[in-house]
Parts: sequence; structure tokens; C-alpha cells
Amino acid sequence: MCGITGYVGGRAGSVRLALDNLKRLEYRGYDSAGVAVVRPGDTQVTVLKKKGKLANLEAALSGLDKSGGTVIAHTRWATHGRPNDVNAHPHSDCTGKIALIHNGIIENYISLKERLTAAGHVFASDTDTEVLVHLVEAHLARGNGLEAAIRAALAEVTGAYAICVVSSEEPETIYAAKTASPLIIGLGEGENFLASDIPAVMGFTRNVLVLEDGDFARITPEGVTLTTLSGTPLQRDVFHVTWDVSTAQKGGYAHFMLKEIYDQPQAIRDTLRGRVTETHQVTFPELKLPTAKLLDFNRIVIVACGTAYNAGLAGKNFYEHLLRRPVEVQVASEFRYNDPIVDSRTLAIIISQSGETADTLAGLREAKIKGATTLALVNVVGSSIAREADEVIYTYAGPEISVASTKAYVTQLVGLYLIGLYIAQEENKLGPGLVADYVEQLLRLPEQVETILADTTAIQEVAQTLKDSSSFFFLGRGFDYAVAQEGALKLKEVSYIHAEAYPAGELKHGPLALVEPGVSVVCIATQSSLYDKVQSNVKEVSARDASTVGIVKAGDEGLNEHFVDSILRVPATHDTFMPALAIVPMQLLAYYIADALGREIDQPRNLAKSVTVE
Ligand code: F6R
Repeated sequence: MCGITGYVGGRAGSVRLALDNLKRLEYRGYDSAGVAVVRPGDTQVTVLKKKGKLANLEAALSGLDKSGGTVIAHTRWATHGRPNDVNAHPHSDCTGKIALIHNGIIENYISLKERLTAAGHVFASDTDTEVLVHLVEAHLARGNGLEAAIRAALAEVTGAYAICVVSSEEPETIYAAKTASPLIIGLGEGENFLASDIPAVMGFTRNVLVLEDGDFARITPEGVTLTTLSGTPLQRDVFHVTWDVSTAQKGGYAHFMLKEIYDQPQAIRDTLRGRVTETHQVTFPELKLPTAKLLDFNRIVIVACGTAYNAGLAGKNFYEHLLRRPVEVQVASEFRYNDPIVDSRTLAIIISQSGETADTLAGLREAKIKGATTLALVNVVGSSIAREADEVIYTYAGPEISVASTKAYVTQLVGLYLIGLYIAQEENKLGPGLVADYVEQLLRLPEQVETILADTTAIQEVAQTLKDSSSFFFLGRGFDYAVAQEGALKLKEVSYIHAEAYPAGELKHGPLALVEPGVSVVCIATQSSLYDKVQSNVKEVSARDASTVGIVKAGDEGLNEHFVDSILRVPATHDTFMPALAIVPMQLLAYYIADALGREIDQPRNLAKSVTVE
């Protein structure tokens, strides 16, 4: 989730202005930053970029901060290529006359890079982005004007992008376009602003154009011309912003946790992007692991902490179901001390949002020492776990600010599903038709999450009813038990109410003694084959006057209002993928209960986002 800002107009100090605006996008996370400036008379665009904090870039400006001119600036949240000076944006063409910044992922960059390299273009970075600026250069060389060259370049790429382009040939113009990554234009008087999000421009204007997918903009100090990518003129309404900056940073949501729950459809799309072929098979261009090695593993060990561990539990169920190979999930802080059975025929999957959790990192090292092949499923590109693992697959959830993890969890599930399907596909465990069936279900997940998010009234009502509960149990069987554990973790960390997950059938072996009036039970029942058993488990708790909520598949009546006090329905997908949908009402339940209790939702007491001590 990179941050973009831009400025065209007559102010002195426009570089400073663009960097100040960039600071208001810090919540998008970043690992490096850069700026490009061009003034009338310049023969090239001046570009400066630095790894690390914005302060590193500011320290290197040496006078440039007083400069005026047309500016584009960028904070990078790495996806392709490590965070370093060279991979930071802006990227320049071979002549230094064009500079470009980008937020998103160019899926077909490898084939484009091969073609452009063969044609003599020299690449400086490992990024997917750099192909875009060389493509523009290539189209210019064919005699197109800059605008036509940018349109032609964009017509060749697949993927997600918000881009801004400047050139010394047109020093008072920024070209911008977007598809599947955000971009807005702030409208001023004799000046205009660009940004990936509204808070960046709020110090200067509250009138913005929110670009939509496929929009192309030519921005000069005098005005903005909007067209489609193919050049058809467009009109967009001007949006007048009434929020304060802090609300705007959260996209209008009251907390980052809620915003991130609503980010989930896009996070799933981004994680699937480029990993599914046109025939709905699974592909991981980033994996170096030969298929023979993949087939040689006789066991899989998943190592992680907290929410990432819970994602691993759902992964285990899926893998054992699909691959029929033993899978063990270990809490990372226990793994090292358990003398784990790991050898050269073990695939160790290390899951981490931050890629910096000390226990998980230690688990990765232990697995390596014992000879396992390590595959990291990580969100933060270039993090320690990503660097040290033999193989890495990124989740593309974007930065997660709320301490309580939400979008990282669903993207970890999606990553695990894809890895499992990939192994099954490569070892011909599933024919191409069956892989395609699974993949089609995965591709529907973003829309299904959107359906849940579209109307949360019932969840909010349940939250109001249960907010004063003394304790919660989350019950489920099979896949439902795996996701119950994440539901319980979410509730306890943001509401501070005691919550425990149990396999539904296990309650009567002890914990039932704790069930009494004031205790609430959330029963997840999305596996049709287990309805009968779950019904009797629910009866056990309602007979003892617990309040009960059922989370079920829409259209299934196995557990309905006759058995529980309230029902929350989620769309149906393959049983194995139900955790990715069933978790959403539980995240929202935790959020709304915590909100009703006035908790510090984004920073719960005693917790830190990244736990870098053992
Ligand atoms: C819970 C939560 C934590 C993390 C855990 C691992 O909402 O966020 O339980 O999941 O600390 O962190 P990562 O995934 O960064 O290794």
C-alpha cells in the first residue's frame, strides 16, 4: 500500500509541500520514499530516493526542499524487490526525461521486462514498476506524444495500478491513471494536488475528484482533463470533504480495525492476483522450489504465533483433507523447545504478518538447522522472516495498523489455500477440473465478504445484547473449530472479555461446568455433515441458560432460530473455505462489543503490534 502525492502550480517550495502531504499518508506504512521534480527549462527530471523513513529523504534534499516546480512523491510499501534506495520510487526511463511512481502490482512485468531488455532498455531496479516507465519510453520512441505513449503503455499491462508520470518535455503537467489502486485529485486555485488518499491534500483543499478504475487524468495548474484509458471524455462529481484528518486517515471509519475489516475484499483480491491462471490453475511465479522437491516432502509443519497460528490451524485441516499428508501446527514459542520432528523431507511453512515476530523467526531458524525447506507466508516484504526463508510467498494485505489482526488473517488463509492447491495440482492429486472448481470458489470470496459487510445490522444487535456477558465460548467442529479459535482471540483482545474456543463435542468433558446465565456461546456451524452433532452441543448450553448465537451458511437450516437465540448467516462456499467467511461476523462482533464497552480498540491494553522479544 504505497503512498502517492503530487503537485502542479506556482508555489515556491513545492517539494516540501509534496513531502509534507506524504507525511499524512504514513498510516499506509512504508519502507522507503522518493521524490521527482521538474521545472521549465530542465532537460531531465531530478529524482531523489532513500530507503527507510521520510526523514532520511528529507535529510538528503540539500536545498531541493526550497525548490518549486512540478512534483511527484512516493512512499513505498514493497511488493516486488527489497526495500532499498534503488527499488524506491520514482523510477526513470533510460534518458532520465521521464519519472513515474506507482502503487499496485504489475502482474505481467516479467515478460515485459524481458522484451524491453532485449530491445536495449537498461533496468536499475528489481521492481515490477520500472517496466512501466520503460514502456512509456518505448512508445515515445515510436513517435507518440507523451500522453499517447502513457495510454499505450497502460494498455499493455495487467494488474493493479495508480500511477503518476512527469516529463521534462511537459514540465507543467502530471499524467495520472488508476485501476484497482486508489488515487484522488485535490482541486486548488491555479494549482492542483494528487494523492492516493484524501488526508494528504486536506491542508490545501477539501474539494476532490475521486478517480475510478480506468480513469486517466491530465493535470496542469489550470485544470484537470479526465478521460477513459482509451480517450473518451469523462465527468466526475467533485466531492467536498467534511471529515477531520484523523477520520479521513481511517477512510471515514471510527477505528483502523473497522477499516481493515472493510479492506478485506481488496486484500483477498490482491493476494489472489497473479496467482491464478486464465484456466483457473494455481501459479506461483515467485517460487524457486522444483516440483520434484515439492512432491518429496513427507510432512508439513506450520509454525506461527497468535492469529497467524490460528490461520495455520485452518490450513492444517485443508491440507490433510486435500493432500493426505501429516500436517502439524506449532506455536512458534513452543516449537524450538519441543524437539520437533523435522528433517530434510519436511516443508516448514512459517506464517507471519510482520515478518519480525521473534518467536516465529527463531522457529524458522530452528527448522532450517534441522534441514527443513522453509516457506514463509508473510505480509511485510523484505522483513527478517521473508529474507531468511528459502522461499517466500507474500499475502498483500497491505499495512495493518490495528493491533488486532483481521485482514492479515484472511489473506493468510487465502495464501494457505493457494499453496495447498498448488501442491495438489503439481502432484496430480486433483485433476485440472477440480483445481479450477476450488479456484472459482476462491475468486468469489471477495464478493462474498462484501455481502457480509454490506449489512451488519444483525451483528450490531447481537453485540448490544451480549456486551455484558461474563465470558464467551466459541464452539465448532472441524474447520469451524479452527476458525472458532480466531473468533475467541479477536474478542478477548479488543473487548477484554474472557473467551475460549472449544471443539463443540469437548465441552461436556469439563468446561460445561462453567456455563451459567451471563455466559454467551457462539456456535459456528458451517459444515452440513456435522449439524446433528452441533445441534445437541447447543442444546447442552442453552439448557444451562447461556445466550447463544449461531454462525451458519446462508440457505442451510441445520442450525436455525429454533436452536439458538440469534443467527448470523454468511454466504456459502466450499466447506474448506468457510473459515474465510465465518471469521468476518466474529471480527465485527468483537469490534462492536469492544466499541460498546468503550475499549481502546486499535491499541488494546498490554499488546503490541509486532512482538520482537521472545
Ligand atoms: C492478534 C495478533 C497477534 C499476531 C501475532 C503474530 O490479533 O495480531 O496474535 O498474530 O503476534 O504476529 P505476526 O503475524 O506479525 O508474526
